[in-house]
Amino acid sequence: MCGIVGYAGKQSAAPIIIDGLRRLEYRGYDSAGIAVHDGRGIEVVRALGKLRALSDALAARPLGGSLGIGHTRWATHGRPSEENAHPHVAGQVAVVHNGIIENHAALRRQLAADGVRFASDTDTEIIAHLVDRALKSAPSLFEAVRAALAQVTGAYAIAVLSKAEPGTMVAARHGSPLVIGYGDGELLCGSDISALLQHTRDMVFLEDGDVAELKAPAGGAPAARIHTVTGGAVERPVKRIDWSPTMAERGGFKHFMLKEIHEQPDAIAATLRGRLDLEGGDVHAGEIGVSAETARAIRRVYLVACGTSYHAALIGRYWIEALARVPVVVELGSELANRAAVFFEDDLVVAVSQSGETFDTLAAVKAAKAQGARVLAVANVLDSAIPRLAHGSLYTRAGPEIGVASTKCFTAQLAALYLLAVYLGRRRGALDDARGRELLEALCAVPGHIHSLLGDADYVRGVATKLVDAKDVLFLGRGYNYPIALEGALKLKEISYAHAEGYAAGEMKHGPIALIDAELPVVCIAPKDASYDKTLGNVNEVRARDGVVIALATRGDEAMHDLAQHIVWLPDAPETVLPLLTVVPLQLLAYYVAARKGHDVDQPRNLAKTVTVE
Ligand code: BG6
Repeated sequence: MCGIVGYAGKQSAAPIIIDGLRRLEYRGYDSAGIAVHDGRGIEVVRALGKLRALSDALAARPLGGSLGIGHTRWATHGRPSEENAHPHVAGQVAVVHNGIIENHAALRRQLAADGVRFASDTDTEIIAHLVDRALKSAPSLFEAVRAALAQVTGAYAIAVLSKAEPGTMVAARHGSPLVIGYGDGELLCGSDISALLQHTRDMVFLEDGDVAELKAPAGGAPAARIHTVTGGAVERPVKRIDWSPTMAERGGFKHFMLKEIHEQPDAIAATLRGRLDLEGGDVHAGEIGVSAETARAIRRVYLVACGTSYHAALIGRYWIEALARVPVVVELGSELANRAAVFFEDDLVVAVSQSGETFDTLAAVKAAKAQGARVLAVANVLDSAIPRLAHGSLYTRAGPEIGVASTKCFTAQLAALYLLAVYLGRRRGALDDARGRELLEALCAVPGHIHSLLGDADYVRGVATKLVDAKDVLFLGRGYNYPIALEGALKLKEISYAHAEGYAAGEMKHGPIALIDAELPVVCIAPKDASYDKTLGNVNEVRARDGVVIALATRGDEAMHDLAQHIVWLPDAPETVLPLLTVVPLQLLAYYVAARKGHDVDQPRNLAKTVTVE
């Protein structure tokens, strides 16, 4: 998830683009760049690191011109560096891009075979070369971009300049968001409205497959036209926006955490993109660096993590044991790093970390690697410390997570661990293509299920009012739902500061049942899965002691409806993907309790997004 901005008008483009990028920095901040057409040619300035570095570079080398494009990056293909920063230039053309080109490897091979030399490791540079080549025969930049995009598969929002057309910017989208702003004598484009609101409230939201030509000829009136990649002209309505710029950065949500909860369908879809072979029932994950032979030789899998990532690892264990038939050990980073653990060369140690920088997890990985174990990183930040140390990486693609309490990165981690389990299962012969297909089709349906769960957010807000005054809350679950109970409790602790405990429902009778009375709300995660009957028994035990039950149950479950005081319905989905669904109402529950208490939900007390100290 990167941020792009474009400007075509009468004013100096650079300051307007930099200001727009500043408002998009929540989308990515590992490098940035700008290209401005000064009427004679295109000047490009890029810098590694936060936007500040680019502003400093521009202070030293100001760019004149009233046509420009800019980018702030969240690396997915090609590590954060100046040469991988956008804009990417090829011949006459400069391109900024947000998204992932799925067939970039094949296109790169084709272009290389034609003698093209690449200056970066990015998928984006491919687009620049395709447009530049198309320009040789196309009547205009607009047509050249359309011809280039007809060869591309994947997700993109792009803005393009050509040396040969000083007054023209071309923008296009498929899968990634892009807005056009109609200002007074100027046209803008951006990844979201927050980048444009300083200049106009009149916006056009491009749809998938749209290509827009934005012209602001010197001394002439600005004009825009929109066509589809391969078809004719299309009309898109101009919408008047009444949000404040701050609201816009949060996409109209009150907090980044709530926005990120709603971004989960996209985060999961992006994490799956280009990695599924649905026909063959298999997973493409060459980047993890585990060959079929190595996969078969794995003696034991270690999953190591901290905080919310640890709960993802606990669920990863269920999938890897069940689908790949290899023993799995799950460890807290801080504990593993401080124990004389023994690792073998045929151990696979999987470090799960959103930031990729957590000290305890890093220390545990170092210990494992020192004893010859193979290390795989499941991380969200490209080229962070743990992936750099690991032999291979399976990146989640959730984009930057601003809220300290992790939400979209948790479900993206689950999606990545699910892919890993299927990948290992296929190579170890534990899964055949039919079962592989079934598992992957279930995973592909998850974003849609989460969409429907998010549709019930208001109802969950109502249930949350029952917890606002609770001093203690107990979360219960069995099997896959046990780590989800832990995660639900952690979310409530992190942001509402209430004491909450997650417990294996089967363990309740061995202790916590003593806590149950009419004052204690008990959240029971009880979908119709293999452990349903036992969980129903536990709910009865809680009700028998006047406990207040909030149940997460499969839609239509009358028995649970009759038992629980409050019920949150879950879609009827295959058991294996339920953890990606059951956590969503619990994230919302915690959010609404904390918001109702007036807490700083995005920056809760005493917590940090990344802990790089022991
Ligand atoms: C904590 C964060 O500091 O670290 C949690 O507040 C997170 O949200 C935990 O789960 C582990 O971080 P990471 O980056 O290793 O997943």
